[in-house]
Amino acid sequence: MQRRILVFLIQKIINLRKNLNVALKSLRRHLYFMDFENRDDDIYIVSFPKSGTTWLQVIAYNILTDGNMNFKHIYDVSPWPSNQALLGKTAEEVNQLPSPRIFKSHDEYGRFDESMKSKVIYVYRDVKDVAVSFYHHNKNYSDPKLTFDKNLDLYFFDDSGLNWFTFNKKWLENKHKFTILYVSYESLKNDFENTVYKIAEFLAIRMNDEIMDRVKRHASFEYMKANEQKFGEVKPENPLVYNEFIRKGEIGEGKKYLSEEQQKKLNHLFNTKIAPYMPK
Ligand code: A3P
Repeated sequence: MQRRILVFLIQKIINLRKNLNVALKSLRRHLYFMDFENRDDDIYIVSFPKSGTTWLQVIAYNILTDGNMNFKHIYDVSPWPSNQALLGKTAEEVNQLPSPRIFKSHDEYGRFDESMKSKVIYVYRDVKDVAVSFYHHNKNYSDPKLTFDKNLDLYFFDDSGLNWFTFNKKWLENKHKFTILYVSYESLKNDFENTVYKIAEFLAIRMNDEIMDRVKRHASFEYMKANEQKFGEVKPENPLVYNEFIRKGEIGEGKKYLSEEQQKKLNHLFNTKIAPYMPK
């Protein structure tokens, strides 16, 4: 009897902690965005995690500025507001950045105000390859015991939280008609120069050899891997290790990783939920 009461109380305390955590996160977000100054010329690089966000940040930064890479971390020149909010920071710093600001976002479509005028570069990537990259990310940065299958269930099959299909569908559907350029990870890998031209055009920058040259240099996998401390996230238990964020940068890893059954299930979800919305 006593044991049952104890288990009940422990469960209650765990739930209370969870609820408090959620409330605290939401309060931090609210306070941050109360002060956050929206500008029409802000540029958002938006994606489901592990789709090539950082790559796009580096490309956009090198198109829009003289490409000085002497920053400590890409977040100094291309911040991630929602994460700053989660960490309990204020918006003071980003409010002082010169325009146009380049922001990273993994926010769901509905989080943006209907009347937003900012340009959005939406990056998407083959679902199977994202599944592999996201698994490595979550295992390396949050849960060393995580299995591939559990990660797949959580973010690709389960619909109750962050889900690849729901997240991408809303952004591709674009109900509010935001100004969005859709860029696939694969187009950057297979046709880098032409894709960069399209991005520059979208950002209203006239491309020239000098810009293309620095984009190619600074956004190359080799450069980003060699300078991973500027782009990666730090592991909480070992803040000096930076060797997993810019990981492989390949197309097709998913096909090797996923079982046939998992691939079939993903293909089915893709065809029924998202295929009609994919950019032509
Ligand atoms: P992998 O884990 O498959 O290697 P995000 O920035 O959205 O978190 O995406 C990270 C993914 O983009 C990682 O994929 C990373 O290696 C890849 N990536 C980052 N920079 C890249 C580059 N310059 N060229 C190719 N892939 C890159």
